[in-house]
Amino acid sequence: MKIITIIGARPQIIKAAAISRAILNNHQNQIDEVIVHTGQHYDENMSKVFFEELGIPKPNYNLNVGSGSHGKQTAKMLEGIEEVVLAEQPNAVLVYGDTNSTVAGGLAAAKLHVPLVHIEAGLRSFNKAMPEEINRIACDHMSTLLFSPTKQGIENLKNEGFDLNNGAPYTIDNPKVYHCGDIMYDNSLHFSTISDEKSNLVNKLDLKGKFILSTIHRNNNTDEPVRLNSIFSALLDISNQDEIYVVLPLHPRTKKMMDLHLSDDIKSKVEQSNWLKIIPPVSFLDVIALEKSCEMIITDSGGVQKEAFFFKKPSLVLRSETEWVEIVENGSAIICDADYDRIVSAYKHLKNHNDLEFPELFGDGKSAEFICQEILTHIG
Ligand code: UD1
Ligand code: UDP
Repeated sequence: MKIITIIGARPQIIKAAAISRAILNNHQNQIDEVIVHTGQHYDENMSKVFFEELGIPKPNYNLNVGSGSHGKQTAKMLEGIEEVVLAEQPNAVLVYGDTNSTVAGGLAAAKLHVPLVHIEAGLRSFNKAMPEEINRIACDHMSTLLFSPTKQGIENLKNEGFDLNNGAPYTIDNPKVYHCGDIMYDNSLHFSTISDEKSNLVNKLDLKGKFILSTIHRNNNTDEPVRLNSIFSALLDISNQDEIYVVLPLHPRTKKMMDLHLSDDIKSKVEQSNWLKIIPPVSFLDVIALEKSCEMIITDSGGVQKEAFFFKKPSLVLRSETEWVEIVENGSAIICDADYDRIVSAYKHLKNHNDLEFPELFGDGKSAEFICQEILTHIG
């Protein structure tokens, strides 16, 4: 069987490591994986570093689409992916998550009547102003096999009319919905000890004390000046008042927008802060090391929110809602939006909680193998 895997943005490259590993370990003679990198992310530290470090096969195709408006970027991807699908004639196309690369892969496959496999199906923010929400809804409704990491994902799909009792053979009109756990949990377990052995970042940063890990890149946080200033004010005040470092591996989008949108006052406080450590984006082994050693995580990232939970850390979510509702219901994450007061008070609330619990909500670390088995059984 031949499958085409579409990747493009950082989190998808990392996610692809789990499936590529399962194929390499257990299904080399059964699944031929052709990897298409759309080129949505292209800086070395947003793309190449992950292939080297996580043992992902080199992409068979790189479409080199790069950055652009949603329409332009998605259209270029669609054109390129369609050509590859026509040339390769795969049995299925596999996409991850909710980026523009995901929806382009979905559209190309569905229009060519190639079964689409969606990993991370069913997640919803119920906020269609978010570009990712449009991408995920569209993608789920073009898929033949939908793999949801959470029970809430299954509920969401049921509420959108998916019949959980469909029988095989599965098609775009008779799709199959699975609750399968989270391949990022597979990855966090797999790479945790490798990170312990190989990452030296925490030592190198010479923090001499406790620290918070923060990541910021959501488009509404970076592109709306009031939100961006409010987030940085909160990070500055928390770190100054508690004399705690904040380590912030900076997404290129945020770097660009900080220059444009931070007020002169906040910009100079950020530049002069002894407590705010802004560093370039780091590798996955390094981010795991930061996640495991920090006191708390303050983020608007989907992936980093969950990794906080995997590594048993409290987190503050810099969004007005989350798709990962389980970790908020559980009490280990607090939704703060980009609101200064909410961020500071949630920080105070969670920093003193040593009684948080982190039950196994995201599967058993073997989701990728389950997905491969189901693809082999139901895609022919
Ligand atoms: C994209 C995804 C988002 C995901 C995020 C992961 C969409 C709509 N958004 O957001 O869901 O959470 O990736 O990180 O697909 N840039 C660089 N170098 C790079 C990549 C980007 O400088 O290698 C800069 C460019 O200025 C670009 C901007 O970042 O315009 C945004 O990149 P883009 O891929 O469009 O969206 P992200 O914000 O990264
Ligand atoms: N990540 C990384 N280096 C960084 C920041 C994040 O490797 O400097 C990883 C992180 O551990 C997670 C993934 O990138 O696995 C999340 O990607 P991102 O936050 O860009 O996107 P999202 O998950 O919000 O779509």
